Amino acid sequence: MKPKTRTGGFGQSTKLGLPIVFCVCSVFFFAGFFGSWLLNNDISGSERPRSRILESVTEEREFQAISYGETGESSVNSIRSQILSWKPRAIYFPGFASSKQCEKIMEIARKTLKPSTLALRKGETPENTKGIRTSSGTFLSSSEDKTGTLRLIEQKIAKATSLPMSHGEAFNVLRYEIGQRYLSHYDAFDPAEYGPQKSQRMASFLLYLSDVEEGGETMFPYENGFNMDGTYDYKECAGLKVKPRQGDGLLFYSLHPNGTIDPMSLHGSCPVITGEKWVATKWIRNELQQDD
Ligand SMILES: *[C@@H]1O[C@H](CO)[C@@H](O)[C@H](O)[C@H]1NC(C)=O
Repeated sequence: MKPKTRTGGFGQSTKLGLPIVFCVCSVFFFAGFFGSWLLNNDISGSERPRSRILESVTEEREFQAISYGETGESSVNSIRSQILSWKPRAIYFPGFASSKQCEKIMEIARKTLKPSTLALRKGETPENTKGIRTSSGTFLSSSEDKTGTLRLIEQKIAKATSLPMSHGEAFNVLRYEIGQRYLSHYDAFDPAEYGPQKSQRMASFLLYLSDVEEGGETMFPYENGFNMDGTYDYKECAGLKVKPRQGDGLLFYSLHPNGTIDPMSLHGSCPVITGEKWVATKWIRNELQQDD
């Protein structure tokens, strides 16, 4: 359509003079103008088919790995994620683990499950903190899992977070039955309340091992600064809620990039109303973990 394709004929037609050249050029100019107008305007009535094609091409494109360092990986991964919030930084990973992997982890955890305990603040006792955390739980180290499932999940968490595996605590697998919950709390330990800390939990990765019919959401009551005016009752299930679904992952950070505790990372587990909730938590510290 461009005049360029006609350049071959120009040499012979120079004698025909300016008017003809002008006419030919005009015809091509208007043809091009009208053609592009047709393409840019939505004459078919459907919604912007061109941009949708562009988006899906980007999504499905395969990327080739490039040369990598000694500790790098030979392939490009495709871990899907969605930012749920920047305040606190919370990221959702749909379909992070397979249902087979989830079933396996529950099977292993069932053998050693016992009522969950709490890190106690000054003045707190197991008696006066009853009801804050009513789930059952167990710590599972990947080195004890002969099926290799926990190791695979651990490696994938390290990939997804870019935080080294050596900074992760053992998995804490929890089971919440009907009515059981975990009231709003922080995963990081404020030295003002818990005394000096050798290291800090900087991020938490939750892997939902089961679906929950009703209730059992992970909630962030202070998301984006809401409820922070002092009126929030920490027993309340409020704010941003994430519904557990088998195999999905949820990552959130308890520390700001500068290392201070993010007050908006307050979170809890709403009571289970129907069904049972199973979740595996991997706490990731800002210092090397000793023996796990
Ligand atoms: C650390 O970062 C947070 C969030 O950006 C900010 O609100 C806070 O004042 C910072 N604290 C220090 C001690 O720099």
